[in-house]
Amino acid sequence: MTERTYHIMTFGCQMNVHDSQWLGRALTARGFMEAPLEEAQVVVVNTCSVREKPEQKVMSALGRIRQVTGGNPDVLVGVAGCVAQQLGEAFFTKESQVRLVAGSDGISGAPAAIERLLEEPGLKLSLLDFTSHYAEREAGPETAEGPSDPVAYINIMQGCDNFCAYCIVPFTRGRQKSRSSTAILEECQAVLDKGAREISLLGQNVNAFGQDKSGDGTSFAQLLRQIAALPGLERLRYVTPHPKDMGPEDIAAFAELPQLCPRLHLPLQAGSDAILKSMRRRYDSTTFLQLVEALRAARPDIALSTDLIVGFPGETEDDFQATLDMMRACDFMSSFSFIYSDRPGARAALFPDKIPAEVAQDRLMRLQALQDELGARWLVGRLDGQAQSTLLLEGPSPKTSEGQEPSWQGRDPYGVPVHVPLPAGIDHTGRLVQVTVTEAKKHSLMAVRTGEPW
Ligand code: SAH
Ligand code: SF4
Ligand code: F3S
Repeated sequence: MTERTYHIMTFGCQMNVHDSQWLGRALTARGFMEAPLEEAQVVVVNTCSVREKPEQKVMSALGRIRQVTGGNPDVLVGVAGCVAQQLGEAFFTKESQVRLVAGSDGISGAPAAIERLLEEPGLKLSLLDFTSHYAEREAGPETAEGPSDPVAYINIMQGCDNFCAYCIVPFTRGRQKSRSSTAILEECQAVLDKGAREISLLGQNVNAFGQDKSGDGTSFAQLLRQIAALPGLERLRYVTPHPKDMGPEDIAAFAELPQLCPRLHLPLQAGSDAILKSMRRRYDSTTFLQLVEALRAARPDIALSTDLIVGFPGETEDDFQATLDMMRACDFMSSFSFIYSDRPGARAALFPDKIPAEVAQDRLMRLQALQDELGARWLVGRLDGQAQSTLLLEGPSPKTSEGQEPSWQGRDPYGVPVHVPLPAGIDHTGRLVQVTVTEAKKHSLMAVRTGEPW
């Protein structure tokens, strides 16, 4: 073990990934160094409880930590995130190495808590209270180590008020709390100054931004316009919007803001109106289709992706077919699909008519086969449709063929990974390059450079 080193293990969504990165930066600013698990003095497991046996996953991660560290009591183990929020201090008795539990809002106090725990070996601390407003977090170290990633993720809110019947998030992340637009704009400008070209806004229900008591009067569409106007920004994206909150101004932004990428992740969850109602999604298939039509009118090339759940309680074969029909009608270029799983505390856990595992599994397979077809067709369509494209280069690609220029990987405006051979010996990270798409692979595209040589 090396003093003042840390190791973070992350499960769950983009917000957790972002929280872990922030915690890493905050610890670095306090003089800690990142280290492999074998060497770390501080180990934090950032947990997720959205589906399936989350506690088992956390317990097996803690078991691995015990094994790798030999149970050394000088190693400080912390559990953060959504399972920590739910189980709280129970972790202290489950695993003696755990001396810190930090929930969704509590994580902002984790760096200071870690310092204190290292000074007081007998102490255990829990940070489980929800704050009434978005808790601003301490900044990371300044630019000393060089430019930041070309893509930056920025939190604009915490929590969710929707209480979809299947979902645990409102319980683990708490009520919706919008961050102040001033703080968001400052952070956006800071990452752009460090070299980011693309900003991705994060939240559980981003287009309800501002519609809570922490809001400062700025709407989501206004926020988009303010961010799009920042100098240096090439691309803007956001996850995750709720279909019921996509207002006319949010749709118009796709026509008005060239920086806003023509790609939207719009969770449908199910195609049957009866299931959508029982899920408490507060839209039906007709309004969803109208929304898709309006988005396509605003930005004809917009690419849509989605989240889908199969096997929600009471789902019949006809209900499931309605989901497949909606996938075709919306022409989703990709989707994340899940088998419904009971979350204790969420309403649907009490619903009757649970779907047998084999039936749900079979539906998932059929749904994913359809998605593979739709996705492949969308990618192949790029060869004649939008073959000319701009990539934001993110790093070297493993897909270099022998005897060729090394390949680089970037993303096109639709968020698709694209591989392109580029001159060797130069770091192309963060550059924008004009390309022509030449080939569609299963989940990515191959391209050649078109614009002027550098
Ligand atoms: N706020 C986002 C993301 C929520 S969690 C949204 O509203 O879309 C990400 C996805 O996990 C959800 O969109 C849903 O498809 C899935 N999910 C959530 N709870 C689930 C459960 N109990 N069983 C199966 N899938 C679930
Ligand atoms: Fe969960 Fe629904 Fe909130 Fe998304 S909108 S986080 S699915 S409750
Ligand atoms: Fe998981 Fe919590 Fe995110 S439950 S999906 S880590 S909000």
